[in-house]
Amino acid sequence: MFCKLTPAEDARMREILRGVADDPNALVMRQFIQHGTVTTYEHCLRVARIAYWINLRFHCRAREASLLRGAFLHDFYLYDWHACRDITRWHGFKHPLIARYNAETLFQLDETEKNIIQSHMWPLTLTWVPRCREAVLVCLADKMSSTWETLMERRGGGPVLQQP
Ligand SMILES: [Fe+2]
Ligand SMILES: [Fe+2]
Repeated sequence: MFCKLTPAEDARMREILRGVADDPNALVMRQFIQHGTVTTYEHCLRVARIAYWINLRFHCRAREASLLRGAFLHDFYLYDWHACRDITRWHGFKHPLIARYNAETLFQLDETEKNIIQSHMWPLTLTWVPRCREAVLVCLADKMSSTWETLMERRGGGPVLQQP
């Protein structure tokens, strides 16, 4: 994977995400498919990893805890969008707000984390704009991750992730 973290960076990421990524409600995301054979849980971890990697390598000076927590929770909408017709009709537009609602209900979020989640689909969601560097990084990392997952799916899968 192009966004490889050092063992120390990887350990720090896990430490920051403790209490969120291992929460039983977050583990539910392992049941839902995001793209191809990639679960929403894997996708969220990948987005967190990419955003963290960009922040470190390009010295973006984002707040690490908010960046990682917001990145991990950005798709915390908790349904399979392939199987929910009522929601999936407008899934791309709706799910950032649903994810934010779920995340706010279950975790204590700061304003940066809320903005990260709600704006991650920008520019599709015109008025939900990334308003901090953390949200910009996650918005970018999500598009990189989705592109990567779709390409891997077309190539028939393969090792795409430094395992969580
Ligand atoms: Fe999303
Ligand atoms: Fe996503």
